[in-house]
Amino acid sequence: MKASALAHPNIALVKYWGKRDVAYNLPGAGSLSLTLGGLATRTCVEFDAALDQDRLQLDKEDVARGDKLERVSQFLDLVRARAGITARARVITENDFPTGAGLASSASGFAALALAATKAAGLDLSPRELSILARRGSGSAARSIFGGFVEMNDGIFPFSEDAKRVETKSLEEASQAAFARPIAPASHWDLRCLIAVTSAGEKDVGSTEGMVRTQKTSPYYRQWIASVAPDIERAAHAVQARDFAALAAVAEASCLRMHASAIGAEPGILYWNATTVELIHAVRQARAGGLPVFFTIDAGPQVKVFCPADARDACHALLAATAGVRQILQAHPGEGARLCEDFR
Ligand code: DP6
Repeated sequence: MKASALAHPNIALVKYWGKRDVAYNLPGAGSLSLTLGGLATRTCVEFDAALDQDRLQLDKEDVARGDKLERVSQFLDLVRARAGITARARVITENDFPTGAGLASSASGFAALALAATKAAGLDLSPRELSILARRGSGSAARSIFGGFVEMNDGIFPFSEDAKRVETKSLEEASQAAFARPIAPASHWDLRCLIAVTSAGEKDVGSTEGMVRTQKTSPYYRQWIASVAPDIERAAHAVQARDFAALAAVAEASCLRMHASAIGAEPGILYWNATTVELIHAVRQARAGGLPVFFTIDAGPQVKVFCPADARDACHALLAATAGVRQILQAHPGEGARLCEDFR
């Protein structure tokens, strides 16, 4: 009744921002990401009939109550229902990168939890089933089940085995159809991702809350959602062709459109600080000067910069020269979620 798993975070090149259904955590549109090796979450789950409630330890701190414990417990309920067990669990999870600052720790967190918890409960799910399950914990977690370049379905028009788009009818059916799939392995393209940390604090507006507010109040939400499918197609082609300039164009456009929809909410959601904006300008200026580089930004002020492997040092120097950058993390294409040695 005990298992441990490791998963990497991922960064969306075409963003997920909005939900078709909150209860099933169905995304309003698809997304496309790169799984990031070099950063990881490790999670150990042990079901124990002697426990009176689920226990969570996050980065060596006990989490006795609150939203984080609640979210983990609700997720474990899905696993318990599926395995036909009632035992509560002890969950120990550790990130080797800062939590809650726009680095998508929920992606690696729920991917590792999905794998460790199902194994500990005696289930043996396929990667696709794990992706569907991980999505219920956090939409972006569905993508971290897989390595390399990954595409997430919206569940409305999933791809069938013969790659035709099939329309789903009910929410239940859509829920089973909203999963991620790998479109190119980590070895396909040695891109590097440098993460410029511009603030160490937890974000003010979590992504779930930010999405719901955008959806309810932003006049730009519909246009944003309508832009996603064509962007996924462009990004997927750019990845297949290893066309850096094409990927740069679509990734920056998707990022800025997502943020524009959030800025248009009421009250407007602005995740950026002054250093975030400095970095946007610095990246664009460097690219105009011939450096292959582009930026993307999630629900926080950190800036993720992508470049080919041989431009890594120049990109690092660019970020390091920008005032307000506190730390630079480095990542490369990584593998999907996998079981690991028990670390407790
Ligand atoms: C901006 O996956 O954290 O990073 O499904 O509500 O848990 P929930 O949201 P989450 O949202 C990620 C949003 C994003 C863009 C992305 O990763 O696609």
